[in-house]
Amino acid sequence: MTKNLNFFLLIVSITVLVSMVSDPVKEPRNETELGELLFFEPLLSADTTISCASCHKPDFAFADTVAISPGVKGALGRRNAPSVMNMAARDLMFFDGRANDLVHQVRFPIEDPAEMNISIQEVANRLNQHPRYSLYFKKIYKEAATPENIARAIAAFEESLETSDTPFDDYMNGNESAMTASQIRGREVFMSSKAKCFDCHFSPDFTGDEFRNIGLYDEKTRLDKGRFEVTKKPEDLGKFKVPGLRNVAVTAPYMHDGSMKTLREVIDYYDNPINLSHILSI
Ligand code: HEC
Ligand code: HEC
Repeated sequence: MTKNLNFFLLIVSITVLVSMVSDPVKEPRNETELGELLFFEPLLSADTTISCASCHKPDFAFADTVAISPGVKGALGRRNAPSVMNMAARDLMFFDGRANDLVHQVRFPIEDPAEMNISIQEVANRLNQHPRYSLYFKKIYKEAATPENIARAIAAFEESLETSDTPFDDYMNGNESAMTASQIRGREVFMSSKAKCFDCHFSPDFTGDEFRNIGLYDEKTRLDKGRFEVTKKPEDLGKFKVPGLRNVAVTAPYMHDGSMKTLREVIDYYDNPINLSHILSI
């Protein structure tokens, strides 16, 4: 009996191993699954070393653990890689809002010299010469890969990364025992007129997609002008997109420059902002 069972288990393991070796990539059934493959695909960078997931890591809610993530050949940009989860309801993309939506956003990291450093048309050419991808695009889009359908596929994957089953959601749906007493106290402080977190971090994802100044631009050492770079309006100097706070426990370091290492540091900052005189609109 045991002998038979062992034999059976051996056959199962061999079958699994053979199928893993012969078919390492599961064929995508729709644009979301194609987008998932592309998100993890280093062919999207000049020297084929960097994928979107190099900086947006699944284990950390698709954010990174360093302040500034290296792109091709170790190139460094100037901002912290945020989580790309819970983007479906977001308005403008990036800390300065320079992309209109998720689809428009995709070409920016691909073409940025400090990130993937390749034209998105060149990426389309590569995918059309690739034995598997060329088939996937024909099957799903009924056409060859183009900058537009590449962006649509990746955006569809990102839109599937929604978080909606946390203890907080459960609590909001009426299950009063879903959150601990200290979590409930934290929520009360968060919404109180003293802490005012809810003034900017509201809605189910804790952002109203507005641009606000919390004093992290000082014209001396903190030089990122934020939203001003896009609008050139003086009132936008030092304003950054209010980030959503879902999964924030695993997305350290924080802020557009990754300058705060822990949530404790963030709270201490709000308690005692360093550049209060520069806060134009808090
Ligand atoms: C080298 C690291 C790096 C790579 C590679 C990278 N990103 Fe990013 N990503 C960032 C940084 C840094 C930001 C913030 C930039 C800013 O706000 O100006 C960002 C911002 C974003 C945002 C905006 C999020 C928000 O809250 O506004 C999205 C969406 C995104 N990236 C998706 C992608 C996709 C899709 C790819 C692959 C095509 C990609 N990223 C590749 C570092 C990277
Ligand atoms: C006036 C609007 C405003 C208020 C009030 C506010 N925030 Fe923010 N918050 C922002 C902006 C804007 C950023 C992004 C700033 C940057 O990246 O430089 C931010 C960033 C954060 C971040 C970092 C998120 C990340 O992924 O990097 C956390 C955490 C946070 N806020 C928590 C809070 C808490 C807790 C409170 C209340 C004590 C609060 N905020 C009050 C506007 C606000």
